[in-house]
Amino acid sequence: MLRILTTMCILMLLSIPAANAMKIKDYHKEVMTGDNGKVECSFCHGDAKRKTIPQASACETCHGTPDDVAELTQRPSDADHDIEPNPHDSLHYGTDLPCTYCHQEHKESQVYCNQCHEFQYPDMKR
Ligand code: HEC
Ligand code: HEC
Ligand code: HEC
Ligand code: HEC
Repeated sequence: MLRILTTMCILMLLSIPAANAMKIKDYHKEVMTGDNGKVECSFCHGDAKRKTIPQASACETCHGTPDDVAELTQRPSDADHDIEPNPHDSLHYGTDLPCTYCHQEHKESQVYCNQCHEFQYPDMKR
């Protein structure tokens, strides 16, 4: 009896997902995996015990300022109307939108603009 109970307890413990089971994007996995083979949460979450949505400053350490990011996706100045606008420097928000409004880490990314528009952004890694 005791043996069965012990086995059950162990099985229950095993079925609790480890904190490190959070899904991480392929494009981040390599750089964010530490020597122990686990993803270093602190790259984005800092030292926070209770993990909340990271500040843009966490992304900036590696990706540069919002202006730097906007430059990566600059459109040609003579772009015609068919070209979708720069998501990082928009008419309404300039470069002020938090990265995590669009780039999610543990779930599929989204395009915040599409609450109102229907942009495709085929090159966006979701
Ligand atoms: C420790 C450094 C580091 C931090 C912190 C970091 N990234 Fe990255 N990120 C990378 C590297 C390296 C790549 C892969 C190379 C590349 O595409 O720039 C990458 C790739 C990406 C890509 C895919 C780029 C593409 O090629 O389409 C996005 C989007 C992205 N990161 C967003 C974020 C966001 C949002 C945050 C903050 C929540 C963040 N990153 C934090 C290093 C980092
Ligand atoms: C409004 C939504 C949105 C926000 C906010 C946003 N991004 Fe993006 N990001 C995109 C889209 C869409 C793409 C694909 C770009 C394209 O299609 O030209 C992209 C592409 C990227 C890329 C790849 C660029 C390249 O072509 O090399 C990086 C890196 C990136 N984003 C990082 C960030 C970071 C860091 C922030 C915060 C400072 C941020 N993004 C904020 C929507 C967004
Ligand atoms: C590349 C940056 C990055 C890394 C590394 C990262 N996170 Fe996150 N985390 C985010 C972002 C961005 C969010 C906001 C929700 C989302 O995008 O999925 C978030 C949200 C969370 C949340 C809140 C859940 C929610 O949906 O509100 C938890 C818990 C969390 N992360 C745990 C972890 C743990 C544990 C690790 C390490 C294994 C980790 N994160 C590593 C970027 C990161
Ligand atoms: C809350 C709704 C809403 C959101 C979110 C939103 N927009 Fe708009 N946007 C509008 C409205 C309304 C107009 C004016 C429509 C018109 O004049 O035809 C507009 C017009 C535009 C225009 C000029 C008209 C055109 O189609 O060429 C661009 C470019 C644009 N938005 C880009 C963006 C980008 C990029 C984002 C995300 C970073 C975004 N919008 C997010 C509502 C929104």
